[in-house]
Amino acid sequence: MMKAIRSVVAVLAGVMLTTLAIASSNSDDAIRERIKPAGSVCIQGEECAAASGAASASASGPRSGEDVYNSFCGACHGVGVLGAPKKGAAADWAPRLEKGFDSVLANAINGINAMPPKGTCGDCSDEELSEAIKFMSN
Ligand code: HEC
Repeated sequence: MMKAIRSVVAVLAGVMLTTLAIASSNSDDAIRERIKPAGSVCIQGEECAAASGAASASASGPRSGEDVYNSFCGACHGVGVLGAPKKGAAADWAPRLEKGFDSVLANAINGINAMPPKGTCGDCSDEELSEAIKFMSN
């Protein structure tokens, strides 16, 4: 009789230990770790985008002014949204370029009025922005 009770207690203890083990592997942290997404979304203009952009820029070299213009600047500078100087419109660009290319570039980098900083190309280098400006103002 005592032997039977002892073996029942042993089995119960075993079941409890197993339950504890399962419970601890299902702690919130363990679950979070198991179901975490494989990748993370990076929104343009955030620092993570800049980091991945730096990697892709070094892999493929700087983008051309035309590429940057088509991807980032054309939406506004194509038709002159909010008074943006239009692509290829010498009359729009001449008074701006009068103050010197460097200050025009600086305004493109920092943004000016409705012109967003870097023209929304958060991972553009100064050189890429400069090429895009030359492309537009030509
Ligand atoms: C959301 C619309 C928008 C986008 C996108 C945009 N721009 Fe502009 N940009 C403007 C507006 C509006 C102005 C006129 C700002 C002013 O002088 O009031 C402007 C002005 C400029 C100027 C003239 C600055 C000066 O000193 O007069 C440069 C250079 C320029 N943009 C470059 C760029 C480049 C390069 C891109 C793409 C990488 C770009 N912009 C994308 C709206 C935009």
